[in-house]
Amino acid sequence: MSVITTHRDGEVLVIVSDNPPVNALGAAVRDGLVAAMDEALANDDVKTVVIRCDGRTFFAGADITEFGNPKAGSVDLNTVINTIESSPKPVVAAIHGTALGGGLEVALGCHYRVAVPSAKLGLPEVKLGLIPGAGGTQRLPRVVGVEAALPMVTSGDPIPAKLAASIGLVDKLVGEGSLEADAVEFARGVIGNASHPVSSARTDKIAGTGSGVFDAFRKTNARRLKGFDAPEAAIKAVEIATKHPFAQGLPMERALFEPLLAGAQSAALRHLFFAERAANKIDNLPADTPILPIARVGVIGAGTMGGGITMNFLSAGIPVTMVEREQAPLDRGVATIRKNYENTAAKGRITADQVEQAMSLLTPSLSLEDLAQCDLVIEAVFELMEIKKDVFGKLDAICKPSAILASNTSYLDINEIATSTSRPEALIGLHFFSPANVMRMLEVVRGAKTGASALATSMKIAKTIGKVAVVAGVCHGFIGNRILAARQKQGEAMLLEGILPERVDRVLTDFGFPMGPFQMADLAGLDIGWTKETSDPTRINYALCERGRLGQKNGAGFYDYAADRTRTPSDEVNALILDFADKSGLRRSDVSDEEILERLLYPMINEAALILEEHIAQRASDIDVMYVHGYGWPSFTGGPMFWAGTQGLDKVVAGLGKHADKWPDLSISKLLRDKAAKGESFA
Ligand code: 3HC
Ligand code: NAI
Repeated sequence: MSVITTHRDGEVLVIVSDNPPVNALGAAVRDGLVAAMDEALANDDVKTVVIRCDGRTFFAGADITEFGNPKAGSVDLNTVINTIESSPKPVVAAIHGTALGGGLEVALGCHYRVAVPSAKLGLPEVKLGLIPGAGGTQRLPRVVGVEAALPMVTSGDPIPAKLAASIGLVDKLVGEGSLEADAVEFARGVIGNASHPVSSARTDKIAGTGSGVFDAFRKTNARRLKGFDAPEAAIKAVEIATKHPFAQGLPMERALFEPLLAGAQSAALRHLFFAERAANKIDNLPADTPILPIARVGVIGAGTMGGGITMNFLSAGIPVTMVEREQAPLDRGVATIRKNYENTAAKGRITADQVEQAMSLLTPSLSLEDLAQCDLVIEAVFELMEIKKDVFGKLDAICKPSAILASNTSYLDINEIATSTSRPEALIGLHFFSPANVMRMLEVVRGAKTGASALATSMKIAKTIGKVAVVAGVCHGFIGNRILAARQKQGEAMLLEGILPERVDRVLTDFGFPMGPFQMADLAGLDIGWTKETSDPTRINYALCERGRLGQKNGAGFYDYAADRTRTPSDEVNALILDFADKSGLRRSDVSDEEILERLLYPMINEAALILEEHIAQRASDIDVMYVHGYGWPSFTGGPMFWAGTQGLDKVVAGLGKHADKWPDLSISKLLRDKAAKGESFA
C-alpha cells in the first residue's frame, strides 16, 4: 500500500501519510504528497485540503538515512512545500505527536495549522549539525517573528502546541481524540475566506527588524553555542529572512545548509543520533522479556546522589520513599530537594504547584522496612563494599520478591555486592551522574547474574525519567570512570612536570569540553577518598586538602573561587605545583598544547578500546554516547571513538608511542593496533 493515501469528507480532501515509525519525509512520502496535491487541484469538487499522519506522529522530519545518498528521480522537499503553499485551495496541517524539521517546514508551507494540545513543534536540525533546508529559517520568522524563531532554530528544542498557538505558529488547538474531524471542520470554515495566509509572502512579523537583535542574541547565547557551526548559520539564515524577499532567501538558506551537510560536525552529530538509538539495543536480551511495572521507588541515602536520584522519579510523577540512617541527613536531603525545585520554579521553568506536587510524592524515612512495597530500590550510600553488602543483605529480607535492587556505586564490583542477597538476578548497577537530577546519562551495569527483566525494566525506566542509558559490564569504574581514570592519571603527571592547571584545563575547553580535569576536580571536591590520617603529601590533590583547599565547596581548590564562584588561578597552588615539579626533577618547559591534548585524550581511546576487547561495552558508539552525555565530551566531534576515527587510529597509536615514556605501565589495546594497521575506524 502507498505510504500516502487520500479520502474525501465532502469538499475536503484528507491526505494521510502512514510511514512508520515517525513518518519521515522519505522519497515515497514526498512523491505521494505531490501526487495527492495534484489530485486536490485537478478535482473541482475539492475545495480544501487537510494533511495529517497516521501512527505516533506528524512528519518528524526529513529521512535522515537519505542524507548523502538522495534518491534519484523523486521530488525534493522544497518542491513539495512549494506545491502546497502555491495551492489556491487552502491546505490545513493537522498535527499530533511531533512536527519536526522538514515536518514543521511542511506545516509552515500549509496555509493553516491545527494541533492537538499534546503535540510539539520544532526545528531540531541544529542537533544534527544542520539548519532547516526547506525554507524553515525563512518561513518561521515570517510566521512567529524573529525573537520567537531564534531560540527555536538555534537550540533545536521543540515547543509545546499551546506555546506554538500563543506565538501564531498554530492557528487552533483541537481535540486530542478528534484531530481529523476537527481539522476537517476548520478547513471547511476557511473555504470562504477572501485569501489564505502564505507564510513565505508574509512580512508583518519581521518588518523593521534591525541587526541589533541578532548580535544581542549571539552575545547572550555565546556560551551555549560555543564550538558549534550550525547555530551561527541558523542565526544568519533568519537574518537573511528579515533582509531579503523569500525567493532570494530560500537559495541563500540552501547555500548555508549544503556545506553543513557535507561537514564534519553534522557527520558527528548524525552518528550520535543513531548511536543513542543503538544504545537501547541490548545483546542477549530476548525481545519478549517482561518489563516490570515501577509504581513506587525506594532510594537509600539522601546525600549528593540520593537526593538527585530521588528528584528524577518525583519529577516523573513516581512516588519515592527515601531512607537515611539518621534524622539530620534525612532532613538535609529533603530540604535540598525542595530548594532545588524552588530554584527551578524561581527561574520560571516549573510552577509553584508543580513543586508541591513533586514534594507530595516524597516519603522520608529512617527505616529500610518502609521499602517493602517498592518495585525498584536504588542504593546511594557511602562507597564502601561492607556497607553496600550490609544494605543489600537487609533489603533481601525486606523487599518484595519482584523488586529490582540497584546500586549507584561508581566503582565497586556489582557481582560481589550481589553475593549479599539470595536473588542476584534482581541486582543491577544504576550509575547516575552528578548532579543526578540534571545529567542525562545513566550507566546501567549488568552483573554476571543480572536477570533479563531487571535489565529491560531498567532501560525502560531510564527512558521514563528522561535519561540516556548505556549498558556496561562489570569492571573497576565500569565504562565511564575507568576511561576517565586514564585521563586523570595524565593530568596529575602533567602537574609534576610543572604544567599548570589552567593551561591543562584551557586545552580541553578549547577542544570543546565545558571544563577541564582540574575544574572538574574542584567541582567534585578534592577530598574524595582523603582523610587527614591517611593523607599522602606526595600527591598534589592531598597536599591541597592538607592546606584546607577542598575544592569549589570551600572557595579554594586548584583555583581560588569568589563568592559568586568566579574562578581565578591561585598563586599559592601554582607555586606549590612548581615546587613539586622542581623536587621531582620532571619540570619541563617544552610542552606544546598538542602534546597536552594527545596525552589527555589518547589514553582514553586506548582504555576504551580495551573495554571493547573485554566486552565491557557492547559497541564503540555506546562509549561515544556515554562520554557526550556523561562527561561533556563535545558532541560536535561525535564522542571519543568517532573522533579517534576522524583523527585516524594510526595517528592515535603513533601518538601513544610518541609519549610512551609518560605511561610506562600502559598496555596498548590489540584491537586499537589491529584496526589502525588495517586503516579502519571504530564506526
Ligand atoms: N529519519 C529517519 N529515521 C528516523 C528519523 C528521521 N528523521 N527520526 C527517527 N527515526 C528512526 C529512529 O532512528 C528510530 O529507528 P530504530 O527504531 O531503527 O532505532 C525510529 O525512527 C524511532 O525513533 P526514536 O527511537 O527516536 O523514537 P521516539 O518516539 O523516542 O522519538 C522522535 C521520536 C521525537 C521523532 C525522534 O525520533 C526524533 O527526534 N527524530 C529526529 C527528528 C529530526 O531530527 N528531524 C529533523 C531531520 S533533519 C530535516 O528535517 C532537514 C530538513 O530541514 C530538510
Ligand atoms: P554522600 O556522602 O553525599 O551521601 C551518602 C548518604 O548515605 C549520606 O547521607 C549517609 O548518611 C547515607 N548513608 C550511609 N549509610 C547509610 C545506611 N546504611 N542507610 C541509609 N543511609 C546511609 O555520598 P554520594 O556522593 O551521594 O555518593 C553515594 C554513592 O553514589 C556512592 O556509592 C558513590 O560512589 C556514588 N556516586 C557518587 C557520585 C558523586 O559525584 N558524588 C557520582 C556517581 C555515583
